[in-house]
Amino acid sequence: MKFFIDTANLDQIKEAQDLGVLDGVTTNPSLMAKEGITGRENIINHYKKICEIVEGDVSAEVISTDYEGIIKEGEELAKLHDQIVVKVPMIKDGIKAIKYFSDQGIKTNCTLVFSVGQALLAAKAGATYVSPFIGRLDDISSDGLQLINEIRLIYDNYAFETQILAASVRHTMHVIDCAKIGANVMTGPLSSILGLLNHPLTDSGLEKFLADYQKGNQ
Ligand code: E4P
Repeated sequence: MKFFIDTANLDQIKEAQDLGVLDGVTTNPSLMAKEGITGRENIINHYKKICEIVEGDVSAEVISTDYEGIIKEGEELAKLHDQIVVKVPMIKDGIKAIKYFSDQGIKTNCTLVFSVGQALLAAKAGATYVSPFIGRLDDISSDGLQLINEIRLIYDNYAFETQILAASVRHTMHVIDCAKIGANVMTGPLSSILGLLNHPLTDSGLEKFLADYQKGNQ
């Protein structure tokens, strides 16, 4: 499974990259705003900075919601760097745009996906990635992981090449559950990746090993 980090924070992106397990980055307008990145030029420059830090795909989201606007914006974003993946919302004009980008060889991430029907449509349009938001489904007492399960089944039935990018991952158990189900990618906060490191028996075992070494080497 690929690990993407879901942030626009450069320090956190660097930290994940330094760990050596990072495969890409996803951003969205809210994450950009959270870092105080506003204005077209600053946003563009920020995408370029992210591409310099990581080696993998970097999702950059369009703001337009009409077909022509999405195409114009998406083509500009795609030209910034060959790592850029154009993130397009799951709306009618978005699906049309994904088909266009797919025909042009431009990578896409279909975002704000909350149903299997939407995921099927995104795959039919040729999306590189589909992003089901599991955390936001869990937030409304719906089963986010079940959605990933169902998308996996349908994509496998027809050998769709669209990669399932489990998004809105909130914690380490989401990461593990998505890996069990067979999501191709997960994107979550740095804490969801670092949380995988932790086990109390690792901590106590290491403490004992180091204490025993000290005793024998005084
Ligand atoms: C996906 O690409 C989104 O950026 C993201 O995963 C949304 O997560 P949230 O529900 O925690 O905001």
